[in-house]
Amino acid sequence: MSKNILYYGDNLDILRRHIKDESIDLIYLDPPFKSNQDYNILFAEKNGSKSKAQVKAFEDTWEWTEESAAAYHDIIEKGPERVSKTMQGFDKILDKNDMLAYLSMMAPRLVELNRVLKATGSIFLHCDPTASHYLKILMDAVMGPGNFRNEIIWTYRKFGRSGCYYPRSHDVILFYSKETGNKFNVQYVKPSESTLKRWGTKKRGGKDPYNRYATEEESPGAIMPDYWDINLIIGANPQRLGYPTQKPEDLLERIIKGSSNKGDLILDPFCGCGTAVAVAEKLKRRWIGIDITHLAIALIKDRLQRAFGSKVSYSVIGEPVSLTEAKTLAESDPYQFQWWSLGLVGARKAEQKKGADKGIDGRLLFHIDPKTRDTQEIIISVKSGKLKPEYLRDLRGVVEREQAAIGVLICMEDPTKPMRHEAATGGFYVSPWGKHPKIQILTIEDLLSGKRIDYPPSQQVNITYKKSPVAGVSLTPKKLPYREEE
Ligand SMILES: C[S@@+](CC[C@H](N)C(=O)[O-])C[C@H]1O[C@@H](n2cnc3c(N)ncnc32)[C@H](O)[C@@H]1O
Repeated sequence: MSKNILYYGDNLDILRRHIKDESIDLIYLDPPFKSNQDYNILFAEKNGSKSKAQVKAFEDTWEWTEESAAAYHDIIEKGPERVSKTMQGFDKILDKNDMLAYLSMMAPRLVELNRVLKATGSIFLHCDPTASHYLKILMDAVMGPGNFRNEIIWTYRKFGRSGCYYPRSHDVILFYSKETGNKFNVQYVKPSESTLKRWGTKKRGGKDPYNRYATEEESPGAIMPDYWDINLIIGANPQRLGYPTQKPEDLLERIIKGSSNKGDLILDPFCGCGTAVAVAEKLKRRWIGIDITHLAIALIKDRLQRAFGSKVSYSVIGEPVSLTEAKTLAESDPYQFQWWSLGLVGARKAEQKKGADKGIDGRLLFHIDPKTRDTQEIIISVKSGKLKPEYLRDLRGVVEREQAAIGVLICMEDPTKPMRHEAATGGFYVSPWGKHPKIQILTIEDLLSGKRIDYPPSQQVNITYKKSPVAGVSLTPKKLPYREEE
């Protein structure tokens, strides 16, 4: 059985370089929706070649640029004929607008996804009404109109009102298979009141799958329709990790159970905080996840560790593994560098509120006693450039001001002797397990060689990312302090 893999990078590049033809049983993709909201991730594509990773975090605005023009020309010149013609048709009705830019990004990826899908495989494209009508035509072109299986409507309760339209409270999931004869396992839901009434009037037994059981208790339920009512992950939902586009595990369970079997290989090329990979793991499928941000990769590693502990085995490909690679990342993209280095210590990026969080790049929270709500905080400052002595002084100031347990400076350059001395004279945070330096310096080289923050080594619970429960699996971290198993 091949290993589970988490790839950091642009999925177009990863698909082309790493994923073999007809090797995947089921694909679920939940790309940015062209929703013009400021939570998705914008990235630059360069003519289908290895793309520059993060351009700017948490922005979802698609614009017709030189890059989208290059992607458009690439797909109409080199893509399959039907896809090329469809894209030219879109150009005629849309002109070179933002929607065409979005579709030019999606088209080559969908072509690659079709290539890697097995003959018995299925693909579920998650989108919303902003672009679903265009994406369905594009999917017809890529997969063949005869391979369309369902337009699944995921409904949820959403509050708010507009003076000129109904509340937008559904997403669309386009289900296509590669060919006829796709794997499909009928699923059941709790029967509605009207179905139960109808059952009551019929004789039990016979051919009717709803009705062939002697009693209602024995029946598996009513056959699952193509509209699914599942709550959003909002408010106090225990699944909530704080990733803005996180999807419910119930939704992924339906897709994965319905279109794959144990041991099958599931691919999520836009895997975000890893809902599809976590559910695939729970349902004993193999999986491949791809995401273009280190934020997502760090979250997924933490989620898997919390849900499955040492039972989950996977490799991560595409993260820096040497000082030179870390430097290249820092130079090309400081945002990604911060996310990656914070992920190494299990911390999350601090929200940048103007003024208040100055000097704080990341936070790591822990409990000395998991039963109490006594949350302790570690404040982290990341410096990838030239190291200045005032950084340490600033950190001390912030730790004092925030009454944090510990402050950590993560840096690329080696600190000078006076800086080490200053850190050493910062005092200690005293826990029931001993003394931990209040001010700590960790170089990237230290982190790459496995050194971690000195904080209470046992019984602590790193609660930086909210817990992610997976039914039937204990959430308690098996090994402490948190380190990902690779
Ligand atoms: C809508 S979110 C997916 C959310 C996910 N379904 C979940 O439950 O967490 C889309 C994700 O796609 C990623 N992404 C955007 N463009 C990408 C690309 N070209 N390659 C890989 N990942 C990409 C973003 O970083 C983001 O995490």
